[in-house]
Amino acid sequence: METTLILLKPDTVERGLIGEVISRLEQKGLKINGLKMMQLDDAIVTEHYDFLADKPFFPSIKEYMMRTPVVALAVSGQNAIATVRMLTGATNPQEALPGSIRWDFGLTIDGNIIHASDSAETAQTELKRFFKGENIFDYSRGFDGIL
Ligand code: CMP
Repeated sequence: METTLILLKPDTVERGLIGEVISRLEQKGLKINGLKMMQLDDAIVTEHYDFLADKPFFPSIKEYMMRTPVVALAVSGQNAIATVRMLTGATNPQEALPGSIRWDFGLTIDGNIIHASDSAETAQTELKRFFKGENIFDYSRGFDGIL
């Protein structure tokens, strides 16, 4: 069983799409173990997107991610990391497949709706970054073990 980190980005919050995106995750059968709204500051955004620090669009990503609060989620399930990435779609909504979250709700790379961890190692680091080991809840659903 894997757990992954998801951020619902400022455009998702501003456009009233929090519920729509979370529904996609729940409908797939993924379990929500943690959920919190947070206003990101410069330090956490810089750390989170450290690998993009030399890109020309780095300042605009930082501005975007701090524009309004985001919603952080810890989500688990079988093969959750790859499953969430499939649901999410390609980074650029213009290249995402129809039916994916980024295609269905996003239009440009400047507002791509959602962030999802890209590997088990990244998920571990990112979960600690946004949840600090607290507020992640383990609970059973009737169908756990079947899905
Ligand atoms: P995310 O999945 O959070 O991971 C890296 C982020 O960088 C990505 O989503 C986009 O928000 C952003 N990004 C990647 N490439 C570009 C680009 N060419 N122009 C602007 N933003 C980008």
